[in-house]
Amino acid sequence: MKKNENADEFARKLQEQIIDQYRKYYSDKVIELWENPKYMDKISEPDGYSKVKGTCGDSMEIFLKAKNDIITEATFLTDGCGATIACGSTVAEIARGKPFTKVLGLVNANEIIKRLDGLPKEHLHCADLASEAMRRALADYLYHRNSPWKKHYRK
Ligand code: FES
Repeated sequence: MKKNENADEFARKLQEQIIDQYRKYYSDKVIELWENPKYMDKISEPDGYSKVKGTCGDSMEIFLKAKNDIITEATFLTDGCGATIACGSTVAEIARGKPFTKVLGLVNANEIIKRLDGLPKEHLHCADLASEAMRRALADYLYHRNSPWKKHYRK
C-alpha cells in the first residue's frame, strides 16, 4: 500500500470511529443532516432575516423569501455544533412552501426535536436556538412586509 493510500485509509477509519461514537448520542437523522446539511446557505436581500445568539454563545442566521405570505425559500447559517446544523436544516424544511402564519404555529423546539428523533439533553438548546431564530425571521418578515424600504436599514 502506498503512503497516500495509508493516509486515506487511516482518515476513513478515524472518521468511521468518530461517527460510531456520535451514534451513541445522536439519532440517524441528526447525523445525516450533520454530514449533509440541507438549506445551509445565505439568501441575498431576504424578505425576513434574523441572527440569534444562543445560551451557549453559538449563533444562527435565518434567511427567508416570501411571496403572497408563503415562505418560498428558507435557509440558515450557523457557527454552532452539528446538532445545530441538523436543527437549522429542519427548521428551514418546516418553513418552506407554507404560509408564514402556519410556520409560526409549527415552529418550536419540541417540533424540531420530534422531527430529528430526539436530541441529547445537553443539546436541547440547539433546537431552541433554531426555533427562536426562525420566529424572529418571521417577525422581521411581518415587520417589513408593509414597509419594504425599511429592509435597507436592517441591522
Ligand atoms: Fe451551541 Fe449547539 S448551539 S452547542
